Amino acid sequence: MIATAKRLEGVGEYYFSKKLREIDALNKQGKNIISLGIGSPDLPPHEDVIKVLQQESAKSNVHAYQSYKGSPVLRNAFAAWYKKWYDVDLNADTEILPLIGSKEGIMHICMTYLNEGDKVLVPNPGYPTYRSAVTLAGGVCVDYNLAEKNNFYPDFDALEKTDLSAVKLMWVNYPEMPTGKKALQEIFLQIIDFGKKHDILICHDDPYSFILNDKPQSILQIDGALDIAIELNSLSKSHSMAGWRVGVLCANEQRVNEVLRFKSNMDSGMFLPVQLAAAKALSLDDSWYNSINKIYKERREHVYTLLNTLNCTYSTEQNGLFVWAKIPLAYKNAYDFSDEILYNSNVFITPGGIFGSNGDEYIRVSLCATSEKIQEAILRINNNLNKG
Ligand SMILES: Cc1ncc(COP(=O)(O)O)c(C=O)c1O
Repeated sequence: MIATAKRLEGVGEYYFSKKLREIDALNKQGKNIISLGIGSPDLPPHEDVIKVLQQESAKSNVHAYQSYKGSPVLRNAFAAWYKKWYDVDLNADTEILPLIGSKEGIMHICMTYLNEGDKVLVPNPGYPTYRSAVTLAGGVCVDYNLAEKNNFYPDFDALEKTDLSAVKLMWVNYPEMPTGKKALQEIFLQIIDFGKKHDILICHDDPYSFILNDKPQSILQIDGALDIAIELNSLSKSHSMAGWRVGVLCANEQRVNEVLRFKSNMDSGMFLPVQLAAAKALSLDDSWYNSINKIYKERREHVYTLLNTLNCTYSTEQNGLFVWAKIPLAYKNAYDFSDEILYNSNVFITPGGIFGSNGDEYIRVSLCATSEKIQEAILRINNNLNKG
């Protein structure tokens, strides 16, 4: 018998990969499930971005392997984007590493810095990939709580009381997924100070800063942040290009080279036309961001109605592609709540527990469905309630 490697122990199949299979099976039975689960933008990228991809891919000389460090055109575009929107200066040659999506960057960072048994602070609730990447790399996850009573920000007093001696790295993500909590400069400052004080590498993941947020923020805006922090960013949500797989890692030169040592053994660069089209996307002005946010805002109003129908409570101050909401008191955990909605109303909503135990009493509703679909979901839920 060929056994799987030990490193897979403790890493199950990704929740969505399993759940989407179940939803597929329900659809095959004719259920026509409305999914408000996953955060995969259904809107197309800007038409000029598509044009660049079409024009560039028709050329004969763009099909070879590309540089491991990405095209200078894309690196320059990322540097200009960081300057324009975050007012952060980055050297395009040395401090920017294009990625095939930020998800792979999470794995690269863990593989580059973690030894067996190194501890890593991960947010609870938080993006599940932090946890699995740490585990796959041999690290040990130590949860830090993001609790409603603490506004879903880290409780530094509590953290300071724990043994941090073996902690090497900390994952942070504001605007936070799934709680929708905003990025705040004072929180970024505290995080950077904490990292410097305890010699913990701060890894900030920033894919949602342009979604339903008037002021995109980066942890690299904090003075001296590059000494202790790496930031990941992505075009998946900000430019509706999730399937294109374009992200970026921003760090000081030494760290970019360290991560590149690992990454250059994993892939052989990105298709050049995709890089050039991504550079075009990064050059778009605020009319692009306004246009997608107008649509998400309208959808969010319908999601509020849906949540009211379900008797859930929520903050209207959230950033990002989701609304995070507390389930009614009558339910102990959101897995049951979500399954009840799925089986009774043919609507899928993500249970908060998949993001960590602190999410057990919450659900996360995606804005990646049309207003018509969300309204249809409300109708189905109402019909089911009226039946009962
Ligand atoms: C918090 C967070 N980080 C990273 C990612 C991955 O994004 P990408 O498409 O750039 O790999 C996601 C995707 O849903 C996310 O929610």
